[in-house]
Amino acid sequence: MANLGTEIVNTVNKLQDVFTSIGSTGSAIDLPQICVLGSQSSGKSSVLENIVGRDFLPRGTGIVTRRPLVLQLIHRPAGGNQANGIEKSGDKAANADEWGEFLHLPGQKLYDFHKIRDEIVRDTEAKTGKNAGISPQPINLRIFSPNVLTLTLVDLPGLTKVPVGDQPKDIERQIRDMLLKYISKPSCIILAVTAANTDLANSDGLKMAREVDPEGTRTIGVLTKVDLMDKGTNVVDILAGRIIPLRLGYVPVVNRGQHDIESNKPIQQALDAEREFFENHSSYSNKAQFCGTPFLSRKLNMILMHHIRATLPDIKSRISTNLQKYNAELQSLGGSMGDNSANVVLSTITEFCGEFRTVIDGNTNDLSVNEL
Ligand code: GDP
Ligand code: NA
Ligand code: MG
Repeated sequence: MANLGTEIVNTVNKLQDVFTSIGSTGSAIDLPQICVLGSQSSGKSSVLENIVGRDFLPRGTGIVTRRPLVLQLIHRPAGGNQANGIEKSGDKAANADEWGEFLHLPGQKLYDFHKIRDEIVRDTEAKTGKNAGISPQPINLRIFSPNVLTLTLVDLPGLTKVPVGDQPKDIERQIRDMLLKYISKPSCIILAVTAANTDLANSDGLKMAREVDPEGTRTIGVLTKVDLMDKGTNVVDILAGRIIPLRLGYVPVVNRGQHDIESNKPIQQALDAEREFFENHSSYSNKAQFCGTPFLSRKLNMILMHHIRATLPDIKSRISTNLQKYNAELQSLGGSMGDNSANVVLSTITEFCGEFRTVIDGNTNDLSVNEL
């Protein structure tokens, strides 16, 4: 699960540790939620899964994602976990330091990511039946791992128009309302997913993203199924902003096709195939570094970094206020924290902020402005 850059993972976790060590309550850095938005079967679940780098989301043709899945990634340092009976999962050896827990199954740790997928399917069917029913009741899943950034991703049902199976007549409106709850939050980063073999001007995801984010400050365009485009067509004009410009731009990706899903193609193999596709395609080989899942992850990292940078001064002043308050309380009780300890903590944070800025600036310089 190392796709969301290890550098930012380490940096943020170090900062969170400083807060924990000085006993600051609440989450120090509130990272934005990342939501997928788009038509049914445009490839939303596939995109999220590739970003996380593990096989665990139900995907496929037709309506597969029928309830929101709120996926909390939680950073937890490696080691010290005495789990027994760890099994091998299909894609990667199961690891005692990486597991999932569902809110509706308290205390149960699932180390096999295929079992996590089975449970998502089972609970979806338990709440919505087997016949394409939908429900706004979210499934809450937490994944604990030493390799993730503490961050929330949300997989959502796709926009559809015609009811099928047990779906209500007003399915279009019901799904819209469900999606709006998530994507309206100003802190939500929207991955607006459109299949590249459909017309961008018909993109339901882009249209809806524009309604809630007219300035385009938190919408990233993701073009899936680039491998399925007709010969002689490509997404070059879209990437160049000549069709529907997006402030944060578009990233083309190639996910696993239905056959790959049925034959259980491992995620690493899929990511390798994606890289080969862009590197060897005459339309993309000269811009392959701006294509594919790794670039999408980098882009997300950049947005998260900028968010953190924007919130740092506020966090710092909150801490310094708290320190003064505690020191005053201590003195009124006749004790003293001593100038030293208060100063040590504050200077640690100051030093840290400087270090953090270096990391951010290092990353910013690494990308040209039009990539952001
Ligand atoms: P969602 O309904 O938007 O969540 O889409 P899914 O991720 O479930 O994918 C829907 C179908 O499209 C599945 O059969 C996937 O295998 C297929 N698919 C998704 N992305 C791609 C892609 O980039 N290339 C190909 N060939 N198939 C894809
Ligand atoms: Na689907
Ligand atoms: Mg889905």
